[in-house]
Amino acid sequence: MLPLKEKDKPIVQKLLSAGCCARCVLRFCCVSVQAAYRKPPQDTLNELQAFISSTENPKTQDSASPPEDPPSKRAKLEAGPSEEDAAAAVKLKDEESRVCVVCLGILQDLCGPAQALKVSETVKAEKYEFDTLVLSVSLPAQLCVREHSCWLHVKKELREKSIAVDRDDLIQVKEAFKWIMQGLVAKELGGVAVVTRVGDRNEEEKELFNATTCSDCFKPTKNKQSVFTRMAVVKALEKIADAKFLKHYPSPPAQPTSSCIPQDVQCLHMSVFVAGRYNKFCRSLPQTPWVIDGERRMESSVEELIAAPVLSSFRSDGFNFSSSGREDVDVRTLGNGRPFAMELLNPHRSRLSRAEMKQLQETINKSSDKIRVRDLQIVTREAMSRMKEGEEEKTKSYTALIWTLKPIQREDITFIDDIKDLTLDQKTPLRVLHRRALAVRQRVIHSMNTRFLDSHHFYLGLKTQAGTYIKEFVHGDFGRTKPNLCELLRTDTDILELDVESVDVDWPPSIPE
Ligand SMILES: *[C@@H]1O[C@H](CO)[C@@H](O)[C@H](O)[C@H]1NC(C)=O
Ligand SMILES: *[C@@H]1O[C@H](CO)[C@@H](O)[C@H](O)[C@H]1NC(C)=O
Ligand SMILES: *[C@@H]1O[C@H](CO)[C@@H](O)[C@H](O)[C@H]1NC(C)=O
Ligand SMILES: [Zn+2]
Repeated sequence: MLPLKEKDKPIVQKLLSAGCCARCVLRFCCVSVQAAYRKPPQDTLNELQAFISSTENPKTQDSASPPEDPPSKRAKLEAGPSEEDAAAAVKLKDEESRVCVVCLGILQDLCGPAQALKVSETVKAEKYEFDTLVLSVSLPAQLCVREHSCWLHVKKELREKSIAVDRDDLIQVKEAFKWIMQGLVAKELGGVAVVTRVGDRNEEEKELFNATTCSDCFKPTKNKQSVFTRMAVVKALEKIADAKFLKHYPSPPAQPTSSCIPQDVQCLHMSVFVAGRYNKFCRSLPQTPWVIDGERRMESSVEELIAAPVLSSFRSDGFNFSSSGREDVDVRTLGNGRPFAMELLNPHRSRLSRAEMKQLQETINKSSDKIRVRDLQIVTREAMSRMKEGEEEKTKSYTALIWTLKPIQREDITFIDDIKDLTLDQKTPLRVLHRRALAVRQRVIHSMNTRFLDSHHFYLGLKTQAGTYIKEFVHGDFGRTKPNLCELLRTDTDILELDVESVDVDWPPSIPE
């Protein structure tokens, strides 16, 4: 039994004779019972016809519409009490096969088991792994115009009958589409976002909204193909006065000659996030692809070496890489490595067992001797932010190979071992000035230790606040970092090699072997 009231009768009558489909009639009668939309549209139409031809007596109305028995109902209708009713029934029957004037067929043939199967098959073909499913549909902007026209058509009737209906209570095409399709698609599948876009058509109708009718609504924009975006159409419809609209557009909307054509089905899996720590053993490997003036400088990068096997394991379309700080191209990262995380875009797999994860780690380790990866694991988007949290307060340890201009002896450098919590003023280094604002940053070197090598070389170990520019501390950057090692040793010094020994960020959690 349809949840319709006696007062809906003239509206139903009006909508049916205007060429609305059964489901659009329910929408315009604000029927929010989802099950009503899931019934076969033919059954609903039969019920609606029975409803409008029944008398005011509720008893007759009940017997007039047994939903499980459409043929007898039709017979009853055709043998109706008056000539007029019979004529109406024949006319309505004729309209059953017509394309709806409001939804252009979207809630008719484009919304049912056949279409659900098509969507499901597209998803299945991509072989996604998923638990939940979100179904979205994009409808042509054109539908808004037809919807508006039909609303004006019933509004008149409602006003005459003094029935108060808020336009916001109407059920949207999108909503009805989802109520019908979601269950059908889910039955076939189980959590991929399925974007069903329904095509634009009836180009000529766009003409009715042009510069003359709403000059400030449709402005061409550089990157949009069409000025008739859904937003622009919705805005124009809000602005335009009813009388003006009716002058330019028929109400109810005209009978369309064909229905909408479904375009593509796009599948998108939510991102999966993978984290770990990497070592870099090579002094000629940038962290990210190094491109200058559109030309590649180094053949590979840390992120590409890690990403390639990860992308193929998760069958992902792309990635975003981030890490806790970064090292220069000529700096190695040793010890436990540097925490990193990557967002995998549209992964077709979303879970890896412990063993598969270990296998993936081994594949990365074996793919190159320039990098290694450990603690590889799937993390949440939220957990990823832990990596960047309080980054400035974290400490890092380094080993630098130092050259001195003046010859040195073992005891000349031992005083450095006693320096604690040395505060530096670092003006933005000349080498990064092109990408970082000029500023003086204070950084702390918590401790240092030295290992004498020969009369011009020694190893300097440093434990510093994250963000300290080590190279600049050593050579002084033309006095831009103060104090610096040249000042401390009273001779020119330079840095020949630098290694990151540890990045003290306790994320991601370590994975026991
Ligand atoms: C805009 O529409 C009106 C009628 O609706 C038509 O007369 C006019 O030529 C159209 N203008 C443009 C620029 O298409
Ligand atoms: C991730 O990468 C995609 C394309 O590669 C980009 O459009 C998006 O803005 C990135 N997201 C983040 C959070 O960096
Ligand atoms: C990969 O290399 C890292 C660093 O040497 C090591 O800790 C890890 O156990 C290796 N993993 C596998 C599976 O080979
Ligand atoms: Zn319809």
